[in-house]
Amino acid sequence: MYMSDSGKAGKRMGNGIIKKHQKTDVTNRPLIISYSYSGNTHRIAQEICVATGGDWCEIYPWQPYPMAFPELLDQVRKEVQTEYRPRLLPGSSNPKPYQVIFAGSPNWCGTIAPPLASWLARNDLSGKIILPFYSHCGGVACDFRRDIARICPGADVREALGVVADSSTDWSEMLREWIASVYKEVLYSDAG
Ligand SMILES: Cc1cc2nc3c(=O)[nH]c(=O)nc-3n(C[C@H](O)[C@H](O)[C@H](O)COP(=O)(O)O)c2cc1C
Repeated sequence: MYMSDSGKAGKRMGNGIIKKHQKTDVTNRPLIISYSYSGNTHRIAQEICVATGGDWCEIYPWQPYPMAFPELLDQVRKEVQTEYRPRLLPGSSNPKPYQVIFAGSPNWCGTIAPPLASWLARNDLSGKIILPFYSHCGGVACDFRRDIARICPGADVREALGVVADSSTDWSEMLREWIASVYKEVLYSDAG
């Protein structure tokens, strides 16, 4: 987990008393939350973190997914069909202080990976701006904006960034353009 200390740790005051941040403290930094099975989505998250100066938090399912692809695919298909929300390892970030949340996972079977769906469903994200991103292989298309809006009806979900996971694609420029349009729009409007 890559979290900056601020917003979590206590703050040393002039009189030497350690004052804990209240849960209601608000930060202008975005939160970047990501689930990744094989690392591609985390790479995008890392770039977003660098580009925005945000706080990055990786999420992990309590029960790791199978290593073998046929078993993995079989399990993911079932979880997606039944809208199963796997239990997550503790330690994921509290979204309360953040106004803007970048939320990413691989495209799994045309939708959000279940661990990210779990995190979105278990946190109250009403009133927050969510910027979705995902990694994919050019297979079954997905609509992260629609799917996240369904899980978080009170949130303002913006246009998603989809990145093809192959080493020949230079997606840094695409990422910069997305940040420059979608994130800057957020910065200079209501959340700024
Ligand atoms: C179970 C499973 C289902 C997948 N379904 C899709 C899909 O529907 N469409 C697609 O374009 N890619 C699909 N992929 C490919 C992944 O989205 C792609 O490899 C992605 O870059 C993996 O990201 P990660 O390294 O963050 O886990 C799937 C991969 C797996 C393992």
